[in-house]
Amino acid sequence: MSKKVTITGATGNIGQLVVPALLEGGAEVTALVRDPQKAEGLQSQEVTVIEGEFTDTEAVQMAVEGADAILMIAPPNPDSAKQMSGLINAAKKAGNPYVVRISALKAAADAPTDNGKLHHESDTELMESGLPYTIVRPHFFMQNIWMSIPTIQEQGQMYWGMGNGKLGMVDVRDIADVAVEILLDGSHQGEILNPTGPESITFTQVAEAISKFLDKEISYVPVTYEQVKHSIIEMGWGDWGGQMMHDYAKAYAEGWGDFTTDDVEKVTGNKSRSIEQFVNEVLAYGFQQQTA
Ligand SMILES: NC(=O)c1ccc[n+]([C@@H]2O[C@H](COP(=O)([O-])OP(=O)(O)OC[C@H]3O[C@@H](n4cnc5c(N)ncnc54)[C@H](OP(=O)(O)O)[C@@H]3O)[C@@H](O)[C@H]2O)c1
Repeated sequence: MSKKVTITGATGNIGQLVVPALLEGGAEVTALVRDPQKAEGLQSQEVTVIEGEFTDTEAVQMAVEGADAILMIAPPNPDSAKQMSGLINAAKKAGNPYVVRISALKAAADAPTDNGKLHHESDTELMESGLPYTIVRPHFFMQNIWMSIPTIQEQGQMYWGMGNGKLGMVDVRDIADVAVEILLDGSHQGEILNPTGPESITFTQVAEAISKFLDKEISYVPVTYEQVKHSIIEMGWGDWGGQMMHDYAKAYAEGWGDFTTDDVEKVTGNKSRSIEQFVNEVLAYGFQQQTA
């Protein structure tokens, strides 16, 4: 009998990689999706779609009912702990499904960002729920660099607020691989996994990898935390999002993210992907799209 897996955040960075891999692995996949247009895309992949928001308790309950495993992903937002609480309660009512939760790097009560504090609340709630669980706390996503494509192409520059801080940034493909592996085989229960890339690197090194790929000088321009906040607010993420990115930038600049783990290899058997692999295999596609 195939495994029934429910996923939230199926249309996001991690979810859109996880869904096809779960189907490929023989799972029956159900997704809670709020956007009917995106739901159509998933239905065409033979995913059972339950349309609804995290606040729609009926839809949430329907989505988790009968699941053997659930992958819980919510975007960073001030209501995330409440949203997760609704999902955890629905999972408890649905029986005893195995829950894999995407949390945040070094989530803690005294984390330097509100996002880290909210994730700590949700991690604690899940750990105390009695449900079998694995918590995944990934490092900074390499895919975040995607948002620098326009300035790289137009100005040969990328603007970030991490100073000379080093980050063990991770390719989202590795996070998805970790999630799929544990959802399908149920391993690593009761653990907190911290997927990182293979190296802790500065944004100057990221720019070097991009320069090499494009065969053109690309430079990293460090900006202030206030500039980070301002541009994030301008991008429409709101004051909460702006402050979150301000606080992450400061923490990373101060060396908070300067570490790597071998958790990707421990779970998947494969070494985590390097920044060069990310640039050559993922960012390359973004450059093609922009010039097409
Ligand atoms: N970015 C990083 O560097 C980083 C690092 C470590 C941890 N994280 C954590 O990773 C998580 C985000 O993962 P991600 O980047 O894969 O997700 P994402 O790309 O931010 O996508 C969020 C997903 O949640 C769905 N969603 C948003 N609001 C919803 C609502 N009200 N009801 C139902 N669904 C809703 C979105 O649907 P739509 O498609 O309709 O928008 C989308 O599928 C966050 O918890 C973040 O803290 C991020």
